[in-house]
Amino acid sequence: MKVVTTIADMQEARQRLTAPVGLVPTMGYLHEGHLSLVSQARAENPSLVVTIFVNPTQFGPREDFKAYPRDTEHDLALLEKEKTDIVFIPPAKEMYPPGFDSWVEIAGVTERLEGACRPGHFRGVTTVCAKLFNIIQPDIAYFGQKDAQQAIVIKKMVADLNMNLKVVTLPTVREPDGLAMSSRNTYLNPEERKAALVLYQALTLAQKLWAAGDTDADKIRREMLALIKREPRAKIDYVSLADPETLEELGRVKTPALASLAVKIGTTRLIDNVVLE
Ligand code: PAJ
Repeated sequence: MKVVTTIADMQEARQRLTAPVGLVPTMGYLHEGHLSLVSQARAENPSLVVTIFVNPTQFGPREDFKAYPRDTEHDLALLEKEKTDIVFIPPAKEMYPPGFDSWVEIAGVTERLEGACRPGHFRGVTTVCAKLFNIIQPDIAYFGQKDAQQAIVIKKMVADLNMNLKVVTLPTVREPDGLAMSSRNTYLNPEERKAALVLYQALTLAQKLWAAGDTDADKIRREMLALIKREPRAKIDYVSLADPETLEELGRVKTPALASLAVKIGTTRLIDNVVLE
């Protein structure tokens, strides 16, 4: 496994890789969710590149960029086990040198849900992913369903800007009790960890209501909200039942539909989703 920190070294190493090249972009502090992407990418491609970069431009001024958990040594040990070919870990000034002034901005799907709560977030995500795609020139990039809107936005960018790669979305990996794995779960104290289950419980309730024949989206949203409000540590950012392509809110649930939510547990903001289909 080769660890590279400069764009020039990454581009040079890329030239020696056998196509197709699989790419898994991450912000590190790797868990089973990340590793499911890595092992699928490993299985499907002769060459595998993983990036670790806590991207400053996708964090808002009052968000957790500084506090975001980091453990590069542990990440590298996990990636070595997965037989990663190249790990690209650039410092921030390599990706954003002084005078950096270009941004990739996708309209429409970025304006809802996460985009509405976190202004500028998706501009940071699409800009860094466009840069990583240009530097690494992957044939396939792998993203998690955990960040459903992010995967939709990346697919839209790739289609709209004619980027020459395929984007694959893989299922959310959960803890045994249902909590979606996330690097941010490490912020939760034991009481908050219990309270965080309310996200999955609300999504499971949506699934149950829909499976029982309920198609009134407002009613399903109301029941999800009521369930979450019974948890005193939870503060709701949004609860959504939307079209999985446009992310427009539904009146009647038609399938597939994306049930998604963002909830703060204490000071930790968590997101999760399920597809009703
Ligand atoms: P990060 O949060 O580190 O996630 C990296 C990838 O792992 C994303 O595609 C995310 O959806 C996926 N992932 C996270 N938790 C998962 C889980 N429980 N199950 C399945 N997949 C999961 O998302 C980012 O980083 C950044 O925004 C990035 C795309 C790297 C751009 O900076």
